[in-house]
Amino acid sequence: MARVAIVTGASRGIGRSTAIRLARDFSAIALVARTPETLAETADLVVSGGAEALMLARDLREPKAAAAVVAATLERFGRIDAVACIAGAVPQQDLFDLTDEQWEDGLALKFHSARRLTIAAWDALKVSRGSVAITSGTSALTPKASLAAVGTINAAILALAKTFADRGIKDGIQVNTILPGSVMTDRRRSMLQGYANTHGLGLGAAIERFAVEMGIARYGQPEDIANAIAFLFAAESQWLTGTALRVDGGETKVI
Ligand SMILES: NC(=O)c1ccc[n+]([C@@H]2O[C@H](COP(=O)([O-])OP(=O)(O)OC[C@H]3O[C@@H](n4cnc5c(N)ncnc54)[C@H](OP(=O)(O)O)[C@@H]3O)[C@@H](O)[C@H]2O)c1
Repeated sequence: MARVAIVTGASRGIGRSTAIRLARDFSAIALVARTPETLAETADLVVSGGAEALMLARDLREPKAAAAVVAATLERFGRIDAVACIAGAVPQQDLFDLTDEQWEDGLALKFHSARRLTIAAWDALKVSRGSVAITSGTSALTPKASLAAVGTINAAILALAKTFADRGIKDGIQVNTILPGSVMTDRRRSMLQGYANTHGLGLGAAIERFAVEMGIARYGQPEDIANAIAFLFAAESQWLTGTALRVDGGETKVI
C-alpha cells in the first residue's frame, strides 16, 4: 500500500537520515527545509532508497508554511501517513544573554512549526490512522542556564505532544516525541565549538572531553535517531502514543 511521510529538517543531519531511512518503509517522502541544493541531495538519496521524493523549500518559521507543505503533499500524493517534525535551530545561548528575538525565533521554528504542521495534517492523518513524531531533546529533562532556550523549548514540546496524543486517542492518530542526546551533526559541531571556546580547547580535545562529561561511550549518529523514528512509525508500534522516547547512549542518568 502507498504510504506517505513528511519530514522537516530534511536537508541535513537527523532530518536527512530520517528521510533516507523512511524511504525503506514509505512509498513517498515530502522533504522540507529552506535550502534547495541540500534538499536535492537528500531527494536523490531517497529516490535511490526506493521512494518518491517531493522537495518543499520553505522557511517553516513563516506562519503559512505548514499549511502549504500539507497542501502540496496532498496534491502530489493524495494522502499523509506520518509526519516527522525535526527542523530546529534554537539559539544555544546563556539564559542572561538570550534576547526576546532569539526566544521568538527558536519557538517559531521548533515549537510552532511542529504545532502548525501537526494541525494542518490532522484530517489526513485521521483518514490514514497515521502517526506523528516530534523532536525534542534530552535537555528537556535536565535544563541548564547555559542553554536555557534549548531545554525550555524542548520541555514545552513534550507537553505539546501530550496534548496532541490526548486528542489522537479519539481520532486514531499516534503522537510521540523523540529525545536525542548528543548526535554528531552540524548543530552539535557548532555547540562543541562553543564548548571548545569556553574551555580554551581545540575542537578535537573538546569533542573528547564533552563525551566524558556527558558519560557516553560515543556520540550518536543521525542514523541512531532515524531508526528510532522508523520504529515509532512501524505497524508494530501502533499502541505507542503519548510516549517520550529517549535515545541518548545512556547520557541521562536520572530515572
Ligand atoms: N544534534 C543533536 O545532538 C541534537 C540533540 C537533541 C535534539 N536535537 C534536535 O534535532 C533536530 C535536528 O537537529 P540536527 O542536529 O540534525 O540539526 P542541523 O544539522 O542543524 O539540521 C537542522 C535542519 O533544520 C532545517 N532548518 C533550519 N532552519 C529552518 C527553517 N527556518 N525552516 C525550515 N527548515 C529549517 C535545516 O535546513 P536548512 O538550513 O536548509 O533550512 C536542517 O535541515 C533539531 O530540532 C534539534 O534541536 C539535536
